Amino acid sequence: MKNTFVITIDGPSSSGKSTIAKLVAAHYKYTYIDSGSIYRAITFLANENKLLNSKEINVNFLINLLENNSISFFNNSKNQNIITLNDVDIEDEIRTSIISNHVSRVAQIDRIRNYVFEIQKKISKDKSIVMDGRDIGSVVFPDADVKFYIDASLKVRAKRRWNDLIVNEKNISLNDVTNDLFNRDKIDVNRKISPLVVPHDSIKINTDNFTIDQVVHKMIKLIDKKIKK
Ligand code: C5P
Repeated sequence: MKNTFVITIDGPSSSGKSTIAKLVAAHYKYTYIDSGSIYRAITFLANENKLLNSKEINVNFLINLLENNSISFFNNSKNQNIITLNDVDIEDEIRTSIISNHVSRVAQIDRIRNYVFEIQKKISKDKSIVMDGRDIGSVVFPDADVKFYIDASLKVRAKRRWNDLIVNEKNISLNDVTNDLFNRDKIDVNRKISPLVVPHDSIKINTDNFTIDQVVHKMIKLIDKKIKK
């Protein structure tokens, strides 16, 4: 009998899914895995090696870099998974706007997606998990126990993201953030491999008019029902 439980949370950028996913994972004492952070770490590595300056990313070079560097998660004392590059915590470095502006370009490369797929499977083996991303319920865990799709309007998402970024990037405008989200959504939804879709068997929640706590409460009620079945 299967004794692990898999919850997937997909949705566009800044829909609130990672905050929600962390709270849901903490409630059930499951492992939270932020799949976007893996794509961001790869983009960070590409940026450090000046691969983002050209129009076409040199995929062979990037794959070679991945083979010679190690991206992994480190579980800290608060049971949080911290992403590391060669054992160095890069959580802050991967959240800057330069990485956000390029990550969707990197994430549309099929060899990169295959590489990330292997990491996703490896780190979730034999564990109950909550994983968020774009293709988690559709491609990575098509047989997940519960799937959610968390959405919000572009206006609300941009304001949330801008509020986060302005703390460290004083000159960033709401307009720039809105454009970045719009462009990322466009690439994520239209890419050929594993585009952002609403998995057909997912529960869709729009967070525009709800607090994080209200959304989490609703999700826990739905998950409890599935667990009891
Ligand atoms: O979730 P986050 O905004 O950090 O994800 C950054 C980017 O990584 C997304 O815009 C998307 O291009 C890519 N991504 C993806 N598939 C996932 C998670 C993230 O393509 N499962």
